[in-house]
Amino acid sequence: MKALVLSGGAGTRLRPITHTSAKQLVPVANKAVLFYGLESIAAAGITEVGVIVGDTAREIQDAVGDGSAFGLNVTYIPQERPLGLAHAVLVARDWLGDDDFVMYLGDNFIVGGISGVVDAFRRTRPDAQILLTRVKDPRPFGVAELDPDGRVVGLEEKPRHPKSDLALVGVYLFTPVIHDAVREVTPSWRGELEITHALQHLIDAHADVRSTVIEGYWKDTGNVADMLEVNRTVLEGLTRRIDGEVDERSQTVGRVVVEEGARIVNSRIVGPAVVGSGTVVEDSYVGPFTSIAENCHVADSELEFSIVLRDSSIHGVGRIESSLIGRHVEVTPAPSVPSAHRLVLGDHSKVQIHT
Ligand code: G1P
Repeated sequence: MKALVLSGGAGTRLRPITHTSAKQLVPVANKAVLFYGLESIAAAGITEVGVIVGDTAREIQDAVGDGSAFGLNVTYIPQERPLGLAHAVLVARDWLGDDDFVMYLGDNFIVGGISGVVDAFRRTRPDAQILLTRVKDPRPFGVAELDPDGRVVGLEEKPRHPKSDLALVGVYLFTPVIHDAVREVTPSWRGELEITHALQHLIDAHADVRSTVIEGYWKDTGNVADMLEVNRTVLEGLTRRIDGEVDERSQTVGRVVVEEGARIVNSRIVGPAVVGSGTVVEDSYVGPFTSIAENCHVADSELEFSIVLRDSSIHGVGRIESSLIGRHVEVTPAPSVPSAHRLVLGDHSKVQIHT
């Protein structure tokens, strides 16, 4: 069995964090979403991985390399334009050969990995297997309709009036029958060849398409609350590890990771929390469910239930909670006179000011 990992995409869904980077590289607990996907593919016993890349190919290749860091053998497959998930299967046709494969969307996060579902697929080998999850608003997803026995009877891509709350998760298991189905697909209203439509072709042809409903699913829809939540979930599984320097005036409590090259000076870190390499935390408090990425500087501040991306600094601003702070951001106090907020905010930023 092979894995086809989709890491292209136009990045049209520009959100606070995906402005400057491939959406697959959005960090969760200081690690790119894509890396969790690659790790769960390796954990499922798959080593041959084709990575579909587009405009952000360079960034993805720099991050993943030849895959050996994950125990994988990675082949890059360029997709000239983001013409859809079914198009990606067409582009990868030769590389896939006649093997079964799991198609994994690189911006999807599956808590608990995919080993269970891959094992079940290997055992039962239906024509295709999809994963579903219950979501509050299914409209930005593919949506499945099941009959009372749980069989998939219909799939719709981003329906205005969803027939259920079961969204298609971006992990699909296929036998080679999918190759005929993707050739049947014509462009959707958004100009893409939808894998959802290829699956509908299989269903219409009475192929055996099975579904599993999973919990613990996340994708970057630009929703900061969801991102903080997934960060929390991952941090909960953290194992304490102090590789950086913690001075004698500091305290680290519980599941705290201080990466090599990080320095904790006269501060208190209460886990689960992670401090990236090259980051300095001084005279500060870092509370539970906080991820601070590499090369940040936190001084005279308190930070809890928050994500700080690399190269940012937070100085002398009191307490910050439930916040997502991007790269190369500076947060500092304003001069006391005149009493005013001074903001330089990028596109799509959101600020809540305590008055
Ligand atoms: C794609 C699929 C959609 C699925 C989603 C999961 O959407 O078309 O059916 O629910 O991935 O991530 P897209 O990310 O292209 O909007």
